[in-house]
Amino acid sequence: MSKNISIKSRNRRIMMGKGSRSLEEIYEYPTRRTSLIEDARRESVRNSIDLSGTSPVLSPTGENDDVFDDGISPLFGAVRKLHITFTSNGDEGFDTLRQGLKVFEALNISVTHVESRPSKDPIKYDFFVQCESKTGSTKTLMSNLHKVAENVRLHKEEITPRVIWFPKHISELDKCTHLLSQYEPQLDNDHPGFTDKNYRDRRQHIAQIAFDYKHSQPIPRVEYTDDELKTWNFVYTQLKTLFITHACQEFVDSFNVLEKEGLYSESSIPQLEDITKFLKAKTGFQIRPVAGLLSARDFLASLAFRVFQATQYVRHSSSPMHTPEPDCCHELLGHVPLLADARFAQFSQEIGLASLGVSDEDITKLSTLYWFTVEFGLCKQNGEVKAYGAGLLSAFGELKYALSDLPEHRPFDPEVTALQEYQDTTYQPIYYVSESFQDAKEKLRTYVKNMKRPDNVVYDPYTQSIHLLDNSETIKSVMIDIRSQVDAVTAAFEKLVG
Ligand SMILES: [Fe+2]
Repeated sequence: MSKNISIKSRNRRIMMGKGSRSLEEIYEYPTRRTSLIEDARRESVRNSIDLSGTSPVLSPTGENDDVFDDGISPLFGAVRKLHITFTSNGDEGFDTLRQGLKVFEALNISVTHVESRPSKDPIKYDFFVQCESKTGSTKTLMSNLHKVAENVRLHKEEITPRVIWFPKHISELDKCTHLLSQYEPQLDNDHPGFTDKNYRDRRQHIAQIAFDYKHSQPIPRVEYTDDELKTWNFVYTQLKTLFITHACQEFVDSFNVLEKEGLYSESSIPQLEDITKFLKAKTGFQIRPVAGLLSARDFLASLAFRVFQATQYVRHSSSPMHTPEPDCCHELLGHVPLLADARFAQFSQEIGLASLGVSDEDITKLSTLYWFTVEFGLCKQNGEVKAYGAGLLSAFGELKYALSDLPEHRPFDPEVTALQEYQDTTYQPIYYVSESFQDAKEKLRTYVKNMKRPDNVVYDPYTQSIHLLDNSETIKSVMIDIRSQVDAVTAAFEKLVG
């Protein structure tokens, strides 16, 4: 049945044979939402603007042509420092300089130094410009300068490979707070809170907690309003009816513990500080407040330290089962229970560790894997398919849809899944099913091994630091640590089997 289905994301209609029904008619509460994948793609595009190499063909310009006509069209990941001279057109003098500087500006190239002097031809001026750029191609720059100046020459070109910074200690997550504003209620007129000034003010007030937050501080408590509590109550009671039949066992077990310990109930919204204490005791994970949608690189880097960046605000009350961006209902009801499961916590951390220092393209792939596992993953349990993805477990309509026979279920294979197109405007047409968390983790490890990365890394839980495995001393020290753990486990096993 699923093979005959096509989903049109814009009008949200599912076509089945001759008839058609909207998703709203089939399953309540479809939702448009943001995804890490889109965030990662935006970062990738931002870092590679004007890499098309479609600049006008240069006319022959003399001895230095071979320097800039180097075939390295993409400046991807690099910083270029250039020294360029050009001469004014006729007696236009500083008009030429003005036009030349506009070319640099238009190509987003920073000019760091400019000098002028009379040319050999007494009516002309020569200009010397030092500049640097992370984007664009030298060829495009030279081509455009030729249109406004004479005798354009490139004298020096230094290319420095881009070094991708990543946090080495958990406290450096204070720098991993780059937000994307695409779905902010102030900016997105499709947002249910767009016209509600009180809601926007409230969001701003709660966001300030995250803006002010620094590592190791307790997370300030939020006094939730009656309106917010009503929304939570509705979402909680609706979702809870499905958990027992639709969620994986690990999720159900953790959810029950959270209720038993008095942290979860339909009548109050859990405080992030209390959840942090709970998770630390279970798996070492902790929560960090975030003001909104975080960049993919920063979000994944946090996972490497077993830190989950979570929003604290509540979705708009007019749309309790639909939020275009993550809110605390999604974080608390979708993510938190499984972060208390040891195997799932390990899986999440491994995606985070794999993301440190890798290229933008690999961040996009890891975000896609995250999307189809941690957010929308399914797994097999006792011959049945169950949900473990937080995007499903916090969305009443999609949870039912994902486990119906409408979408296609495919076995989780990171090589394939990492390239899968996704839907962010409606339900996914395809979900990936893991045999278990262990199976997903092992497949992910194999995938990550083949990724190009600047350094192999390992997390040291004692110092909450990332160690680069780039010298024999560090590698030896990590091996000694692992060997002592293996010895302890081996001795325990031998004792047990007798
Ligand atoms: Fe999420």
